[in-house]
Amino acid sequence: MKAALKPIRVGLLGIGTVGGGVWEVLGRNADEIKRRAGRAIEITVVADKAADHARGIVKDKAKVIGDAFEVVRSKDVDIVIELIGGYTVAKELVLEAIRNGKHVVTANKALLATHGNEIFAEAQKRGVMVAFEAAVAGGVPIIKALREGLAANRIEWIAGIINGTSNFILSEMRDKGLPFAKVLAEAQKRGYAEADPTFDIEGVDAAHKLTIMSAIAFGIPMQFSKAYTEGISKLTADDIRYAEQLGYRIKLLGITKRVKAGIELRVHPTLVPTKRLIANVEGVMNGILVKGDAVGPTLYYGAGAGSMPTASAVVADLVDVTRLITADPEHRVPHLAFQPDQLSDIPILPMGEVETSYYLRMRVVDKPGVLADLTRILADASISIEAMVQKEPAEGESRVDIVLLTHRAIEKNVDGAIQKIEQLGTVVGKVTRIRLEELL
Ligand code: HSE
Repeated sequence: MKAALKPIRVGLLGIGTVGGGVWEVLGRNADEIKRRAGRAIEITVVADKAADHARGIVKDKAKVIGDAFEVVRSKDVDIVIELIGGYTVAKELVLEAIRNGKHVVTANKALLATHGNEIFAEAQKRGVMVAFEAAVAGGVPIIKALREGLAANRIEWIAGIINGTSNFILSEMRDKGLPFAKVLAEAQKRGYAEADPTFDIEGVDAAHKLTIMSAIAFGIPMQFSKAYTEGISKLTADDIRYAEQLGYRIKLLGITKRVKAGIELRVHPTLVPTKRLIANVEGVMNGILVKGDAVGPTLYYGAGAGSMPTASAVVADLVDVTRLITADPEHRVPHLAFQPDQLSDIPILPMGEVETSYYLRMRVVDKPGVLADLTRILADASISIEAMVQKEPAEGESRVDIVLLTHRAIEKNVDGAIQKIEQLGTVVGKVTRIRLEELL
């Protein structure tokens, strides 16, 4: 029998929603985890500014301190779990932990999407691991799937519902007819939303996660600043309803795709055919479609936020790091899936170059020639119409909504056509444009 190894000593930074879950899972499943990891994994020290709250959770089973820097420098800690969030202190703590030879497990997508390149380079230099399964889609093991399970494939594209809060809002608005603000408040109460909920609603959180997935899918550096980000705050009940009538559901999707000229990296509301499985990912759940050239489309589904699901990913990383701790650093799974000297400099495409289909809605004066003007502008811009519906005018209303679905078109051509349409005297206000993906 193998000689028993000493327990792995973990320092936990932050015992809030996710940290509390990590503490609970590690305690509850300690025996099972030990059987998997080959040795016990114990949180020996917790750093949290709310020390009394922390003590209330850990009792006398771990040391509680206020200064997180003490933990990352401690010689009695093997792995640091960073659950503080944000970019400033968290970044200093992670780098300091790495410089002190600690392995790091983090759920901090904002930090990795913006400073991941620097952090991974430092980790590489020091021969330590930075594990981040919990940073994308909570409990869904999508990082493991992309980095290892699909390693045989050339990944073609990823399309994911990767922000539970906005998906919850869209689902509740559609199903229950509830107003936006009320649903957001509920999501916050349940602990799904980011500290700054505009990150959820405006697509920033999804763009952080998409940046990470794109990097490991295509072997490129993290390039959050080049991601196109559009949220759900401007969606109207009318558009949600019209889309349903046409057989589509509106989802906030993160899409990254390899095309000839480069990589698309974009987050925006998207019409998805209702019959696709991913269109039926509802509430706070996340769903990610990954298309590999060999395997075809694969779908990953599960809870993308919340205490226990996110803890599930953090603890899985602890097990992974524990198993590999004695392995030669050169032969571990690379942070970004590809060998660090093999990253590609293929460019991220500007949004104008992206090709997709579009839902266009405009309010027009109901009189002869209006449709002819619209279709001429679209034809001149090489935009082909797939479907068109004129909605019934409301009672006493002389203006009507026209909804158009286009075939695939280049975004800059669509932008130009929208500008011209908005200048027509018969078109009232702005054209609503929502992108559409068949996801085949
Ligand atoms: N605010 C995020 C969400 C939490 O709503 O999905 C998980 O990253």
